[in-house]
Amino acid sequence: MSQPSLSLVDTDPAELAVDAIVIGLHSQPDDGGALLPAAGAESIAAAFDGKLTSTLALLGASGAPGEVTKLATLGTIAAPLVVAVGLGDEPSGSAPEPEKLRRGTGAAVRALAGSGTVALALPVPDDGDAPGVLRAILEGALLGGYKFAGYKTKAQPNRREPVAALRVHVPDAGDAAAGAEVARAESVGRAVRLARDWVNMPPNQLRPPQFAEAVVAAAQGSGLEVEVLDFEQLKAAGYGGIVAVGQGSEAPPRLVRLSYVPEGVDSPRKVALVGKGITFDTGGISIKPTAGMWEMKSDMAGAAAVGAAMLAIAALKPSVAVSGYLAMAENMPSGSAYRPGDVITMFNGKRVEVFNTDAEGRMVLGDAIARACADGAEYVLEASTLTGGQVIALGKRIAGLMGSDAAVELIRAAGDKVGEQAWPMPLPEEVRKGMESDIADICQTNSNLDRAGHMLQGGVFLREFVADGVEWAHIDIAGPGYHSGEATGYWTKGGTGVPVRTLLQAIDDLA
Ligand code: BES
Ligand code: MN
Ligand code: ZN
Repeated sequence: MSQPSLSLVDTDPAELAVDAIVIGLHSQPDDGGALLPAAGAESIAAAFDGKLTSTLALLGASGAPGEVTKLATLGTIAAPLVVAVGLGDEPSGSAPEPEKLRRGTGAAVRALAGSGTVALALPVPDDGDAPGVLRAILEGALLGGYKFAGYKTKAQPNRREPVAALRVHVPDAGDAAAGAEVARAESVGRAVRLARDWVNMPPNQLRPPQFAEAVVAAAQGSGLEVEVLDFEQLKAAGYGGIVAVGQGSEAPPRLVRLSYVPEGVDSPRKVALVGKGITFDTGGISIKPTAGMWEMKSDMAGAAAVGAAMLAIAALKPSVAVSGYLAMAENMPSGSAYRPGDVITMFNGKRVEVFNTDAEGRMVLGDAIARACADGAEYVLEASTLTGGQVIALGKRIAGLMGSDAAVELIRAAGDKVGEQAWPMPLPEEVRKGMESDIADICQTNSNLDRAGHMLQGGVFLREFVADGVEWAHIDIAGPGYHSGEATGYWTKGGTGVPVRTLLQAIDDLA
């Protein structure tokens, strides 16, 4: 599904001949919760002759974050429909928090499916905060309006098409910074939507060879250098972890590497993005229970985010060199599958004793991280749907974050800025002790299959594959990578595209 077109306007919102117009609505706690139209809505409020907030209140609006209230305008303004989106309490500064705007705009644009052209008259301030606020609004609009195309064979008579065109009201439509935000949002929006599409594809349509082909096709003409290692090449080059997991499937594994090198920068910083690309995780011989297993089609969300982020990087052209490593395999039980008890020699030469074939993510990632280090990365930022323990510890919205101090702080701060929270977690020595193997260098899980500190075991294991001196972060997105509930804010059902925007922000912060 293609992304809606974006344009900036600075004409009076009340005079815009669009299908619908979105305004913000605050509540004023100091005034008994009375409603206050957000900045940007002044001329619309004026056209309603002082009756806008009372009419919205009559329709049940309270200004609560994300609440959407539709109002027919009956000729008061040029657009036939006003949509008021709650932005919470009146802000103390010049604009509401970016994340409130991002979520509110997402909810409003999604509620407007069926309207072809929508204008956004939201509070973009006239000061230095403007680019950040505009960025939040544009991202919210592009992501909230996402819908996976799906596979229905019959036309849906009541289907309301996602919004096709967005006109965003700003104080000055000719402003260069605002124009740059539009260009950036188009690249970022496209990347997040692509990551969502890949995650939402059924696992029979996106096995490792097809996933690799899809990434290569998407990278065509982007300027990225592309390398794809197939099963034979992976075996020959010693990628023991990827081979072990991939050998149980008839659809063989792949390691895809995408590289971006900035032009005209002398010895740029080298950053590696690494993603877990298990196109389906049955658990393998340590097979998972049936309930919910289908959701393991999302076990490639990390690789999807890395691939999509690389495409955005190719367009945004930061001044750092970035390579993406997508470790793809299908974790299946079969006569050729790897077994509990196997000892596997990984890409960096370390030997791993397998205890549970369902801990497959760390096997493919250990190899990919070691390869990134061998390529000379100074920062390794890795994202994976690694452990159910992450979901237990931090829930469905906040990722688990482990690694070296500098990289953890980089990702924590970046995630905070973009509304993709990641929470720092420790790498305790006793967890490493619990992973001692009698016969190999390390066990893949706790050697007694003790699940205590389950998420941390993943981080402690992956650390073994990071070369000395390399700053590294492991982002466990088992919860935030996939949204199984109803759409909320700019999160639609299914793949979320987390942590594409965190990775892009982190790259910006390193540039
Ligand atoms: N892909 C799963 C983790 C997962 C669980 C992601 C729920 C998203 C939602 C991973 O490969 C896995 O199976 N992890 C095991 C690790 C254990 C065997 C050490 C788990 O979480 O139980
Ligand atoms: Mn697993
Ligand atoms: Zn998995």
